Amino acid sequence: MQTVHLSGEAGLARATTMLRVGQTVAFPTETVYGLGADATNGEAVARIYEAKGRPSFNPLIVHVPSVEEACRLIDLPDAGLRLAKALWPGALTLVAPMRPEAEIAGLVTAGLETLGVRVPAHPLAVRLLHECGHPLAAPSANPSGRISPTTAQHVLDGLTGRIAAVLDGGPCAVGLESTIVGFEGTRAVLLRPGGIALDGLKAVLGSHVHDRDSAEITAPGQLASHYAPDAPLVLNASPNSGGLYLGFGALGGDLNLSPAGDLREAAANLFAHLHALDAVAAGRPIHVAPVPETGLGLAINDRLRRAAAPRSTERSQPLNSRP
Ligand code: TXA
Ligand code: MG
Repeated sequence: MQTVHLSGEAGLARATTMLRVGQTVAFPTETVYGLGADATNGEAVARIYEAKGRPSFNPLIVHVPSVEEACRLIDLPDAGLRLAKALWPGALTLVAPMRPEAEIAGLVTAGLETLGVRVPAHPLAVRLLHECGHPLAAPSANPSGRISPTTAQHVLDGLTGRIAAVLDGGPCAVGLESTIVGFEGTRAVLLRPGGIALDGLKAVLGSHVHDRDSAEITAPGQLASHYAPDAPLVLNASPNSGGLYLGFGALGGDLNLSPAGDLREAAANLFAHLHALDAVAAGRPIHVAPVPETGLGLAINDRLRRAAAPRSTERSQPLNSRP
């Protein structure tokens, strides 16, 4: 398959046509690039799993253009509705029971009774959703288990020949995947830290979101090794400790996540810098400066720990069982 690199108005029109006929098109969102397909078309969705080499048990997030459209697909409890109204469009995914009338292909939920839904803020994603006229299933547009893409070039590096097209919208502003919130009864539960910091959720809910208390893997994004570069990663390292150095703040290196120590900037740079260092590592490890565990630092450290986690044998270890 030849993968087409699309941009501009003509690119948007072509991407729309391709999605309508069941092809896979990677598109920009403000978090990371997603690999989109018509969520109502089982064969189209199967192409996503095929292109990513994604384990079939790992469900996909569905993207819609508005809160109203989201509420047609899932039954949000009160807390969910408040989060949706306050934080959509944005870097938030809500997981809730799917409505019986929702016409979503079974492969999207991988057999679960819940569905993950997001209203993205990126203008190209919004237009694509409006013009396609159906929800788009879209995981991050990377081969399964690899670093998420924050540019069209990252998408092409990982998936050329395996997807129909990538719609180029420049680099992603947030740079981290969405924060995923689910519900146990009426209470909000954090399934994955991400582009919206916990304080942002707390400000809406008036209380903390709960940590999941079961060790069961309900979001396979919680698998320990999930965002892995080829090079081994050493966390909380000091400069000059050997190998390549990914700095933060005053601890400079081969690349710096944010010389100013700004966590938002660090989040936006994280995957691009990992991609770039991985490309030149040639067997050397990547040492990473400590990043504070506050605000977006929580999600940054979460992704770094997974990228550093032992590969293969421990791939199916739940994240919350690590020390
Ligand atoms: O920012 C994002 O969320 C990006 C952009 C493209 O929207 N998407 C993304 O998708 O990161 P993905 O598939 O790479 O990660 C979604 C995570 C997966 O770990 C999946 O297991 C989990 O969400 N998930 C999806 N549906 C779920 C459900 N019904 N219950 C629990 N977890 C779910
Ligand atoms: Mg992913």
